[in-house]
Formats: sequence, structure tokens, C-alpha cells
Amino acid sequence: MGNVGGDEKTFCLGAHLNDKKNTQDDKSAISNMAGLIPSDSILVIDSGVGGLSVCQSILAQQPSLQIIYFADSAYFPYGLLPEAELSARLKSIISSMLAMYQPKLVVLACNTVSTLMLPELRALYEIPFVGVVPAIKPAALMSKTKRIALLATTISRAYTDQLIHDYAQACEVLRIGSNELVVEAERLLNDGSVNKQVIDQILKPLRLSSELSSVDTVVLGCTHFPLLKEYLSESLPGVNWIDSGEAIANRVTHLLALSSKDQSDL
Ligand code: DGL
Repeated sequence: MGNVGGDEKTFCLGAHLNDKKNTQDDKSAISNMAGLIPSDSILVIDSGVGGLSVCQSILAQQPSLQIIYFADSAYFPYGLLPEAELSARLKSIISSMLAMYQPKLVVLACNTVSTLMLPELRALYEIPFVGVVPAIKPAALMSKTKRIALLATTISRAYTDQLIHDYAQACEVLRIGSNELVVEAERLLNDGSVNKQVIDQILKPLRLSSELSSVDTVVLGCTHFPLLKEYLSESLPGVNWIDSGEAIANRVTHLLALSSKDQSDL
């Protein structure tokens, strides 16, 4: 992986920290990189390249922010992992990364992780966690037809049900689960290619519903999907695509401002 958004100061790590057989290797790989990381960083974690869409939004607000990026590509996609395994894996990664780099905050740039364990992680560690959850609320507000769709790898979490219950009661919500789209986003960033037929096939239920003039707003409930926005819009024109990137960036900016105020008050 290279730099994000062309920023020389942004570090992308993780591709080599992925030996499923031996967690000890993860730890020494992390430790070997420690000297290369500047202080005053934030840590961004995802199963793969999806969190880079979040990094883009963060860097648009704070171009000189140092980002440590952890892509857990050996365990990708997280949506297929048993919940207990995913939870243990994340705690191990986070504990190692926090001990090694002392970032100012952690961005869980993954809906699959955030909807599973954001409250638990916040309770376990003192450092602030910013999570990514599907942008159901803005989508429900924006929709004129009051029919929205959620496109995500994990569509049946209690957290997501609660979001829909709390913010989208006035809407009908169509849920479309897809791990294939995550694979397409990974491929696009690896070699620049995308299988448009796969995208057309996944969006087919929405195309049918669009013809009936129904779904007008689609929530991208996976951080990989904004990387495919050009292809998604080409396949399904005329709908609003909503992701959480800007909201996450706002939250990160706010928390960092609070933490530098705390420092200057000392
Ligand atoms: N980018 C992750 C997300 O936002 C991908 C999920 C996965 O690996 O299953 O959920």
C-alpha cells in the first residue's frame, strides 16, 4: 500500500502484518515498524482498503494529520468471520497497536466491526474511538420517496436494526448484503480493474425498484463502497449515495481539537 491522498506524511501499514498462523509474528512486525511512525498520529483500522475512503475524508479536513493505517487483509472480509473470532482478533490488534504507537485516537473504519463492538471497545480502552455506522439517519431525512436501501456486508446486526428503528421509521428500508462488492473495491485499488457485471448484478434489485420509482437513496454501509462510487452511479444513475466519511472526519477533527485544547490548558 502506498500513501493516502498523496500525503507524504501518511503511513499505510498492515499488509505484511497478516500471518493467520502466528499472532506473535503480528506483534514483531508491528514492533519493527514502530521507529518509522511519527508521534501525534491517529490509528485507522479496517479489514482492507475500505478505510482509505475514510482517510480521504479526514485528510480533506486535515491534510497534515499523521495516519497509521492497519489493513487486516489476511482476515478479510470481516463480514464472513464468526463474531467471537472477529472480536478477539480486534482486541489483540488494538492492544498491540496502542502499546506500540500511542495514537491520539482510533478510527474503526469498518461498519462490520463498529456495529459489533464499538461500545465494548470504548469501555475497554481509555483512548477515544470513532466508529463507522451506516448513515441511516441522513438517508431517511434525504429520501423523498421514503424508500431507502442499505448496501453493506453485514446487514442484520442489532445495532443496525436499532438505527433503523430510531431514525427511519417513516421509511421502508431494503437491505442488500454483498461481500462481492468489497472484493471489487480491493481489486480496483490493487490493479485498477472492476467487474462491472458484478456491480450490475448486485444492484439489480434496486434497479427494479427504481423503475417503480421507489428507492431514491442508498446508504453505503461499508467503507469499501465509496471507492466504487463512480461505478455504482454508472450502474444505477439517479439515486443519492450516502456514506459516513464526512461525518467521521468531522468527529475526528472535533476530538483532536478538544485534545489540543486540553494540552494547552495544562
Ligand atoms: N470496510 C469494511 C466495512 O466497512 C468491510 C467489511 C468486511 O471486511 O466485511 O464494513
